[in-house]
Amino acid sequence: MKGSGKARAHANIALIKYWGKRDESLVLPMNSSLSLTIDCFYSETEVVFSGDFDRDYFYLNGKLQEKDATERVSKFLDLFRKAKNLDLPARVESINYLPTAAGLASSASGFAALAAAANVASGLNLDKRELSIYARQGSGSATRSIYGGFVEWRKGSSHEDSYAVPIDDASWDVGMVIVVINKREKKVSSRAGMKRTVETSPFYKVWVESAEEDLKEIKIAIKNRDFERMGLIAERNGLKMHASMLGANPPLSYWEPESLVVMQMVHQLRREGIPCYFTMDAGPNVKILCRLSESHKIRDRLIEVFDPNQIIIAKPGPGITIL
Ligand code: ADP
Ligand code: DP6
Repeated sequence: MKGSGKARAHANIALIKYWGKRDESLVLPMNSSLSLTIDCFYSETEVVFSGDFDRDYFYLNGKLQEKDATERVSKFLDLFRKAKNLDLPARVESINYLPTAAGLASSASGFAALAAAANVASGLNLDKRELSIYARQGSGSATRSIYGGFVEWRKGSSHEDSYAVPIDDASWDVGMVIVVINKREKKVSSRAGMKRTVETSPFYKVWVESAEEDLKEIKIAIKNRDFERMGLIAERNGLKMHASMLGANPPLSYWEPESLVVMQMVHQLRREGIPCYFTMDAGPNVKILCRLSESHKIRDRLIEVFDPNQIIIAKPGPGITIL
């Protein structure tokens, strides 16, 4: 028996961050989160299940991966094998059209693409909601990459009701300018960073409470298409996540000096009347939420300081595509 499937999934950038798990093996989050799927970064993944293989093989960007990365993928594929009673090894080939493990959401696009491809290859035929539950178990942020536009990941009360819901297609002059400060792989993965924060930061409890409040408010702002309010809430929420990490033991920070340069430039642009707001994830790179129609103006200002190929303009992106 043999089965194959290929899919593309786009990365997403959280405006209300997911940071911390209440269940590590099921990847259930402490708080709900909300993101924007973007068009410029994505992963394409092919899964082949076949008795011709002696074990699972995982190739990323053409390179055969080591034990740890392969085990994470194998464990994820086991969910599909178990559900379909499929006892076949797999070959997984994925290309990341974005830097891997640099805080630019490769685990989101990577595991959403893997979930969608494995869904076809195994013949499990999950619908999008179920697929979002499966993707979640690969990487939390992948839950949201099943859909395009603005997406909410509802933390739920159990494994069955922790999934993503598309809430708005973001087709109202919304964009992002991404400043790539460093493409290197981070030293502390998101997974390890959030675990340390949950376990040791005295600020963690207030982070969770405050994120739930921010989520309520940003949903109203999105519904009303109130761009400024949405941006201000997103900027504040991101900073609070980073504050929770600073309180960890040992303290954790993903910022670099140039990250701060971008933050100050964003505030200067705002003083000049351009509504734009920064957010950062587990890496030094900065994402600037802006009006798509003003993204070139923002880019022009940034290239006074940064190299033009460090600046990427992103439009809202689509959900998963079967290839
Ligand atoms: P990022 O900020 O890029 O999301 P993370 O630390 O959250 O970084 O996750 C990076 C990890 O995600 C990688 O080390 C790898 O295990 C996994 N990953 C990245 N891309 C893919 C892919 N295309 N397919 C499967 N797993 C991937
Ligand atoms: C800062 O989804 O990569 O980007 O569930 O352990 O795989 P795991 O973590 P991951 O963490 C993302 C953290 C974040 C915020 C976000 O995307 O919501």
